[in-house]
Amino acid sequence: MKVAIITGASQGIGCELSGFLANKGMKVYGIARSDFSISNVVSLKGDVTNEEEISSLINHVYEIEGKIDYLINNAGMGISGSVEASSTFDVRRIFEVNFIGTFLTTKYTLPLMRANGCGKILNVGSVASEFSIPFQTFYSSSKAAVKTFSEGLANEVSPYGIGVSVILPGDIKTNFTKNRRKNENEIDVYEKRVEKSIGVMEKDEQNGMSTLYASKVIYKTMLRKKMPLVKVIGNKYKVMIFLKRLLPVKLVNKIVGILYAFKKE
Ligand SMILES: NC(=O)c1ccc[n+]([C@@H]2O[C@H](COP(=O)([O-])OP(=O)(O)OC[C@H]3O[C@@H](n4cnc5c(N)ncnc54)[C@H](OP(=O)(O)O)[C@@H]3O)[C@@H](O)[C@H]2O)c1
Repeated sequence: MKVAIITGASQGIGCELSGFLANKGMKVYGIARSDFSISNVVSLKGDVTNEEEISSLINHVYEIEGKIDYLINNAGMGISGSVEASSTFDVRRIFEVNFIGTFLTTKYTLPLMRANGCGKILNVGSVASEFSIPFQTFYSSSKAAVKTFSEGLANEVSPYGIGVSVILPGDIKTNFTKNRRKNENEIDVYEKRVEKSIGVMEKDEQNGMSTLYASKVIYKTMLRKKMPLVKVIGNKYKVMIFLKRLLPVKLVNKIVGILYAFKKE
């Protein structure tokens, strides 16, 4: 029986994926800070930014199972607002959760995968790493870090039989929209623009793909003997990323600005 650890399993994509993989016959361990219950999934309480907690949870799974076949780094958070009004606390936090969290689970899983000579790591990034979204600049930056990290890691660990893939989902309907933290003290000149921009994003997310669709794509990717290094979820986003490669970077960024930055009134 394949053994999978999924972070951020209490809600959204992680919750759906945990149940999905358990139904496919995998032994699934889900990690989140809050209590949660999913049929046939072992729930573990932990914060991905807490090194002690994460190392002990991962070793706990290894002691029981003797292997970890899959690590899915899915836990994540969003913040929104202008760069200027962002608090240092929030910026540190988003990098802690989205990037350092991914690093910590990976760091403690790798020696166990290496000992077994195999394993697969899937890091959930975002299409927002390909197109830096104004007023979600730190979210895009943190996910770009996850993508770059995954690419470097893949080359480091492939000689030991370990595969790495970074998953780039487009908009998916989850509580991520509701859970996104907004700048508490937005500066008045940005206020209307931020409101409009986040309004567009929220609408797109709530009309987005289902968590079941995302789970199916991730499952298919996991099963591939050689996983793709980058896997985009959603055909529309695949086309956008393809076009991005063809167009000048300045033009692409201008289009993103038209869609998400708005002019001052
Ligand atoms: N929804 C989208 O449109 C979309 C698009 C692209 C990428 N993504 C990415 O997909 C992933 C999942 O997002 P989602 O939409 O499913 O969001 P979500 O519904 O808000 O779920 C986020 C999950 O992460 C967990 N989490 C947050 N901080 C954590 C921490 N410090 N330690 C452990 N777990 C933590 C949450 O659990 P607790 O609060 O219980 O800890 C929750 O289970 C994220 O990485 C997100 O950036 C989402």
